[in-house]
Amino acid sequence: MPALPVVAPDADAIAMALHAHGACYMPALPDVVLAAALRADLLRLRNENALDAASVGRADSHALRREIRGDATLWLDDARCGEAASAYLATLDTLRVELNHRLFLGLDEVEAHYAAYPPGAGYTRHRDRFHDDDARVLSIVTYLNPDWRDDDGGALRLYRDDGVIDIVPRSGSVCFLSEHEHEVLPARRERFSIAAWFRRR
Ligand code: OGA
Ligand code: MN
Repeated sequence: MPALPVVAPDADAIAMALHAHGACYMPALPDVVLAAALRADLLRLRNENALDAASVGRADSHALRREIRGDATLWLDDARCGEAASAYLATLDTLRVELNHRLFLGLDEVEAHYAAYPPGAGYTRHRDRFHDDDARVLSIVTYLNPDWRDDDGGALRLYRDDGVIDIVPRSGSVCFLSEHEHEVLPARRERFSIAAWFRRR
C-alpha cells in the first residue's frame, strides 16, 4: 500500500511533497495547544446545536444528502465560533500565502468549516473540486480526535493511481490536491474534524 509523505507544517516541505505526490500528512498542524482549543470550541458549538447538516449541491433533499454525507458543519468565520477558530484561520491563511509563492497555483483565499460526523456517518467517494467550479485547489483536513483508536474506523480514504491510502482521523492534518477523489468511511464513534480549502477566485 502506498504511504503519504509526512512533513513539517512548513511551506517548503509541503510544496515539495505536493509537487512529488499530490498529498502529504502534517502531524504538527495545528500545534497541540491550538488543536485542544479547536476541539473544545467544536464540542461547545455541537452542544449548543450550532452545527447544521451539511449540504451536497443545489438539488439537496434531506434523504439524499444523508446518504451521501452525514456530517454537521459550521464555517470557522461564523460569529459563534471562538478565538481558536480565528487563530486557525489566520494560521491557514499564512500557509496559503507561503504556498502561493512556491506553487504558483493562484491560491486567493481560504475557507474552512468544523465538521462532526455522528457514529455510522460517512461521506461517499467525491472530489472537492466540482466539474462546474474549479475554485477549490488544495484541500486540508484537520483531525481533532486525540484518543482515536485504529479500530474506530472513520478513515479518510484517498484514491490514487497507485492504489488507495487510508488515513486514521486522529490528529494532525492531511493536505491534497482537491481534484483527487476521496471518501470518509463510517466510524464507530463521533468524529471531529476541520475541512479547509485554498481557493482561486
Ligand atoms: C470533506 C471531506 C474528509 C475528512 O469535508 O469534503 O472530504 O476526512 N472530509 O473529514
Ligand atoms: Mn472532500
